[in-house]
Amino acid sequence: MSFEKKILCIGAGYVGGPTMAVIALKCPEYKVTIVDINEEKIRKWNSGQLPIYEPGLEEIITKVRGSNLFFSADIKSGIKESDIIFVSVNTPTKTFGLGAGMASDLQYWEKTAQQILENSEGPKIVAEKCTLPVKTAQAMERILKTNNKGAQFEVVSNPEFLAEGTAIQDLLEPDRVLIGSHQTESGLKAAEEIVRIYSHWVPAEKIITTNLWSSELSKLVANAFLAQRISSINSISALCEKTDADVAEIAFAIGADRRIGASFLNASVGFGGSCFKKDILNLVYIAESYGLKEVAEYWKMVVKINEYQQERFVANIIRAMFNTVVDKKIAIFGFSFKANTGDIRESPARFVVNKLIEEKAILSITDPHALENARAGLAEVDGEILFELDPYRAAKGASAVVLVTEWDVFRNLDYERIYREMKKPASIFDGRNILDHQTLFSLGFDVYPIGKPSLTHSH
Ligand code: NAD
Ligand code: UGA
Repeated sequence: MSFEKKILCIGAGYVGGPTMAVIALKCPEYKVTIVDINEEKIRKWNSGQLPIYEPGLEEIITKVRGSNLFFSADIKSGIKESDIIFVSVNTPTKTFGLGAGMASDLQYWEKTAQQILENSEGPKIVAEKCTLPVKTAQAMERILKTNNKGAQFEVVSNPEFLAEGTAIQDLLEPDRVLIGSHQTESGLKAAEEIVRIYSHWVPAEKIITTNLWSSELSKLVANAFLAQRISSINSISALCEKTDADVAEIAFAIGADRRIGASFLNASVGFGGSCFKKDILNLVYIAESYGLKEVAEYWKMVVKINEYQQERFVANIIRAMFNTVVDKKIAIFGFSFKANTGDIRESPARFVVNKLIEEKAILSITDPHALENARAGLAEVDGEILFELDPYRAAKGASAVVLVTEWDVFRNLDYERIYREMKKPASIFDGRNILDHQTLFSLGFDVYPIGKPSLTHSH
């Protein structure tokens, strides 16, 4: 079959996989190939057992894989035949050298640029899909300019705003699609090519085109603003716990103001995920490198409050359990960084588990989709950790349940049974405020929500 255009995506991860699956679904006349250096991952994408859990993804993959969506480890051929290349490789925080702990580690991205350079023979549009420091496109262009096989490149920025757990919905009905390009004839033409892809299903008014640097920076700023809201409400949750105010009532009251808005005001054990922290730290690093100390300090506080919230949560657990958890069984409800994903990167659960293991507790972790990742991620941890798919087994004989992830399944459990089978006094620490605290209290639990008065029996 001949295709109108050939699209390549380098990086078959949480972004590359779902994003390209939706493009393939909506643009049957385009051939979409996703490549990755990780051959095992490619094998999984080509199998019945996808490498990531994302609601709705499997159905789309089953529909388009082998028709106009292909997964391959042959990066060279993929680059050679493509007209448009999306780069969706990982850009974690640098752990070494200059900017360690703050700056973006661009080694994977740089290798991709080299791969594109070496294997290109014709004109190509390179679209940055991964999240990058502002001005990165300039570096990409400098590398690609050295091509001596006559290839012409135009670099555009097309950051991704999907959230895990709702990725398919976010891709099918995005709030906006952002495309940044040079404001030159060739730059605008390249942007138009990317607009054409999304126009298959996204209304024109939701496709925003800007200059390259605004687009790159918007992505970091969007994540910083979202995380800032969570840190803001979490900081207030600490104040609520001192004053008997209720953070959920406050979120509702302030969120009713249209200028503030209701979303992203759920107080929690802290935000996790692979991006918020790394992107804010990157923003801080960029601000610092331009000498903008006050700007850097301002955004740094968002991360600091998040760390404070996680520490506070664990300190509350230990204090409530008579200042010792040694040899006490504690059930951890949820290990993924949020519901509806198996992703455990930067999950607050990881922090909670590490701290409780340091305090010599015996942990029993349950999670409907992240147990395999949890087991692998905690393999090096020296302590007693059990992994249970069944939450009732996880809680049996435990002195406390610590709810870290807001999976729906945890809302509707038989807590009467759970209470009966736990050691007394039995406590519940609701790190997401999703449970019915009054009912739990009347069942006999001591209940410790976030940012609300705790409900305790006198023992
Ligand atoms: P990921 O780790 O899940 O996937 C990245 C993939 O790139 C990996 O499979 C890796 O093997 C592959 N890779 C690395 N170097 C390569 C190379 N040279 N050639 C081929 N493949 C290579 O990461 P992700 O979560 O998909 O994130 C990718 C980018 O998108 C990051 O910049 C991230 O900040 C951004 N982002 C992520 C999300 C999210 O929800 N995860 C949302 C929006 C944006
Ligand atoms: C986030 C953004 O929402 C996406 O727009 C962005 O594309 C993505 O980062 C990225 O660049 O990687 P994601 O991290 O997948 O998406 O999930 P979110 O829904 O944003 O949740 C992030 C964390 O904040 C989770 O741990 C979540 O539980 C927590 N959260 C979220 C709260 O604690 N309270 C809230 O009100 C909302």
